[in-house]
Amino acid sequence: MTPDIPAANDLTIISDQVKRCLGYMKTLGVQGFDCSAESLERMELWGKPRLKQTVKEDLEGIKADLGSCSRCRLSSTRKNLVFGSGNPKAVLMFVGEAPGYEEDLKGQPFVGESGQLLTKMIEGMGLTRDDVYIANIIKCRPSDNRNPSPEEIVRCFPFLERQIMAVGPQVICTLGAVATQALLGTHEGISRLRGQFQEYRGMKVLPTFHPAYLLRYPDKKREAWEDLKKIMAVLGLKRPQTLKG
Ligand code: URA
Repeated sequence: MTPDIPAANDLTIISDQVKRCLGYMKTLGVQGFDCSAESLERMELWGKPRLKQTVKEDLEGIKADLGSCSRCRLSSTRKNLVFGSGNPKAVLMFVGEAPGYEEDLKGQPFVGESGQLLTKMIEGMGLTRDDVYIANIIKCRPSDNRNPSPEEIVRCFPFLERQIMAVGPQVICTLGAVATQALLGTHEGISRLRGQFQEYRGMKVLPTFHPAYLLRYPDKKREAWEDLKKIMAVLGLKRPQTLKG
């Protein structure tokens, strides 16, 4: 049986439950647990450490913390770790699945064939790659191009979360099922989720098809373009064109 991918907000939900339970025990006068107002207040930070931080982390600090990561077995087969690229203050962030062959070689996200299509999608919105921030759910290439395992996602995801909080985009566009499900903590299929705004830590998330999928099924580009137009509307971008390529 495949283990479930833990939801990104699991810790927040658990901490809310524990807090509620401790608060109730406090009202009952239970002794032997730290149910003080101060401790309950501190628990508010569980699962949302970056939201409550007064000093925002920057991407360089996160990259330094990641270092030459060996938190999972992908470190033994990768050529380069692919951290992310683009505008550190972007209003729009794209999140893909995992680096592929070209990305692993160059240490940059989306520089292969699907990256070329992503670049066209971004340009179709009237933007450049330097305007947006691009990252992946995991930072190292699975050598056999398989989907990232739940364990790899669990190890790597906290760094993406920190990147998202550091950039603070208005909209996150998740590319494909793996990125969408990992970010939102859902098993819902991409065909159902695409084009519908979701929420992640107060930010809008718009799932769409992965460029690699669009290369295989060009007929789906029309739907992807409809999704991107929704993002443009939210960001106040005016440049409706047809998506070529
Ligand atoms: N596919 C992805 O999901 N990410 C990349 O960086 C490249 C291809």
